[in-house]
Amino acid sequence: MSNAAVVGLQWGDEGKGKIIDMLSRHADIIVRYQGGANAGHTIVVGNKKMVLHLIPSGILHENKYCVIGNGVVLDPSVFDEEVRDLKEQGYMKDDEKLLVSAQTHLIMPYHKKLDSLREAGMTKKIGTTGRGIGPAYEDRASRIGIRVVDLLDKKTFAEKVRENLKVKNFLIKRYYKQEPLKVRDVIADYAQYRPLLKKYVEDTSLFINEKMRAGKSVLFEGAQGTLLDIDHGSYPFVTSSNTVVGHSACGSGVSPSSIGYVLGICKAYTTRVGEGPFPTEVFGAQGDLIREKGGEYGATTGRPRRCGWFDAVVARRAVMLNGATGLAIMKLDVLDGFETIDVCVKYKVGRKAYSQPPLALHDLSKCEPVYESLEGWKGSVKDVRSYDELPDGAKKYLRRIEELVGVPISIISTGAERDSTIVLRNPFSG
Ligand code: IMP
Repeated sequence: MSNAAVVGLQWGDEGKGKIIDMLSRHADIIVRYQGGANAGHTIVVGNKKMVLHLIPSGILHENKYCVIGNGVVLDPSVFDEEVRDLKEQGYMKDDEKLLVSAQTHLIMPYHKKLDSLREAGMTKKIGTTGRGIGPAYEDRASRIGIRVVDLLDKKTFAEKVRENLKVKNFLIKRYYKQEPLKVRDVIADYAQYRPLLKKYVEDTSLFINEKMRAGKSVLFEGAQGTLLDIDHGSYPFVTSSNTVVGHSACGSGVSPSSIGYVLGICKAYTTRVGEGPFPTEVFGAQGDLIREKGGEYGATTGRPRRCGWFDAVVARRAVMLNGATGLAIMKLDVLDGFETIDVCVKYKVGRKAYSQPPLALHDLSKCEPVYESLEGWKGSVKDVRSYDELPDGAKKYLRRIEELVGVPISIISTGAERDSTIVLRNPFSG
């Protein structure tokens, strides 16, 4: 048995969907363990582009178990839509292959409403996806959250909705001066999802552990990226879950010793959506060029992503936090045609240099990148499938990233297609 985890080393959108889809071939079970429909994992199969927000990206393969773990916050309307879409497109032929943890917390309509109202009212906005993620995790921590298992029991569900809406509606009506939600509407709305979720609900922790004991292999699918981690990211401009790989154990109910190979995913450059510090952000024509060449628009919200150069300070920190065994460098082809490519090797504030990101936001916001300028390469790496065929300049760039970050590159992606990939080391081959 060998297991592997895929985790983002930047601010999300690193291209995890493609790699998870690719590695799913080698795994028996694929588990999402945190986040919710704020994620947007894009997979290109032939001329079709699929974006999955909630269901693990392994679902496009037959005969794989896909699990939504207890650490996820699940929006039943998105789940419903995704199941329908996948079935319409000929996937998910076997319902038994998709499992949802009974302990997964639900995103409720008041979570989405409060997420948007709070964002609209903030002077310093976070730039959330508006999917109710923060409020749902808050309720989980406050022990007033509603789990999938609670929805399955009509009486428990109704009691919890009634109790929660007392306080939520007070906020919505009195503080935000908006229309309150009606208890009966919320109950009726969610009743439609009961039969659907009943079909998939399971004690997924037990399921995964039993399968592992029987020698099956697991792929842990991270969402967002390390710099969006609630503890280790650029707080408060982060998401509301732990995105680091340590949480894959907790969010799926397995021992940390099960994780195995940790594949850290980063783009050959950096992007960020939403607000918050981003030291290597490039403004003007060059930033626009990266955005256009890379199609850098949010898969969930459609927002243009902020773009910039590869930041080795951030990547080094993320490698440390995740104990990454190897790297996957994504979208190398986007850097085709650049005469020079900058890599941030450290930060400075005045005369003070930083080799690690400072932890205080006001310090990080002041950091200026110190760049090393590498020569670009002639020709294109687009769709190249073997390392030897890469131009020398591209090889040099990759080697420099390895040196700066301190772990070897296992996978290089040279295009959106499944096959536009160079695999130097397969995480599942031990
Ligand atoms: P939330 O997760 O919707 O609360 O948003 C908090 C921050 O995380 C915002 O800056 C979002 O843009 C960012 N974020 C959340 N999910 C993703 C993702 O999947 N990719 C990139 N950024 C994300």
